[in-house]
Amino acid sequence: MTDTRTTTHDAEDDPRNRDLLIYVNGTLLPRDQAMVSVYDSGFMLGDGMWEGMRLYNGKWAFFDEHMDRLFDSCRAVSLDIGMDRQGILDALTLTAEANGMTDDVHCRLMVTRGVKLRPFQHPSLSRSGPTVVIIMEHSKPANTLTKKGIRLATVPQVRGLPMSQDAKYNSHSKLNCVIACLQAEQAGADEALMLDPFGFVNTTNACNFFIVRRGEVWTSTGDYCMNGVTRAKVIEICRREGIPVFEKNYSLVEAYAADEAFLTGTFGAQTPVSHIDGKAIGTNGGRGPVMDRIARHYRALVQENTA
Ligand SMILES: Cc1ncc(COP(=O)(O)O)c(C=O)c1O
Repeated sequence: MTDTRTTTHDAEDDPRNRDLLIYVNGTLLPRDQAMVSVYDSGFMLGDGMWEGMRLYNGKWAFFDEHMDRLFDSCRAVSLDIGMDRQGILDALTLTAEANGMTDDVHCRLMVTRGVKLRPFQHPSLSRSGPTVVIIMEHSKPANTLTKKGIRLATVPQVRGLPMSQDAKYNSHSKLNCVIACLQAEQAGADEALMLDPFGFVNTTNACNFFIVRRGEVWTSTGDYCMNGVTRAKVIEICRREGIPVFEKNYSLVEAYAADEAFLTGTFGAQTPVSHIDGKAIGTNGGRGPVMDRIARHYRALVQENTA
C-alpha cells in the first residue's frame, strides 16, 4: 500500500540515504549500527536539545544562528555540550566528509545529558557526559510540498506559557507538538495549527506560520513559538525589501481569510498552506506573489551565507 500522507518534512527518495554514516560521540557508524544506550537521558526522558541545519556548497547555512540557539538552550538547562562551536563544526565536517556530502543535505544534531546511572529522572544520575549524535541525510524537499501545499487543522493542544516548557527549547521532548500533530491527522489534515494560551494563532507543530493579507505579512508575536532561524530570516527579508511585516496577535477569522499562508523551517524553507480547517486559503493553493518573492530572497540569502 502506498502511503499518501503529506508531512512538512517530505523529501525526495534518495537511495544513498540507505548507507549513511552516523556520528555517535566521535565515532562514525553505519546507520543500522548507530545506537545509544537505553539509559540515555534523551531516550529515557527527552532530556536533550537538537538543531536541524542545511548544508549548501559545503557550508552550513546560518551556522552562527543555530549555534546561538543551541548553546542558549543548553545553558538554560545546565547541559554541558562538552565542545565549543568549533568542536561542533569539526564534528559536522567529519560527518559530511565521511558521507561525501556538500549540497542538499539536512542534518539533525542532537545533544543529550548522556547515559544515566539508573533509570530515573534526576539529572544528577546522568554521569557519562553528553551524548552527541549527528544524522545527515541527502535531502531535497519533495516537489509536492510547494505544488500541493499543506493542509492544517487547528487542534485542542496549545502552545504553553514559557514557565511550563518554554517553546523556545528545541528539546528532544516534542510531545506537545506530537500530540498536536496526531490531533490534526485525526481531523484529516496533514499537520497542526496551534493556538497560544489566549486563542490567537501561533505556530504549527513543526514549523513557524505566516499569513499574507492585502500585501502585509503577519506572524505571531513570537511569544509562544520556536524562535525559528527561518522565521527570523523571513522577517529580516521583509524589512529589508520594504514588505510590511507585523509580529502580532491575530485570530482564525483573519487566518481563514488570508490571501496566502506559508510555513517556515530549515527543512523546507517556505511551504504554502493550502487549507486551514478545510477552508481553502487564497485562490492558488495558499501560494501567491508575496511568498514567492520572499522565497526568492531567502534562496539568495542562503547562497550569500554559504558562498
Ligand atoms: C516547533 C518548531 N517550530 C519551528 C521550527 C523551525 O525552526 P527553524 O526555522 O530554525 O528550522 C522548528 C524546527 O526545529 C520546530 O521544531
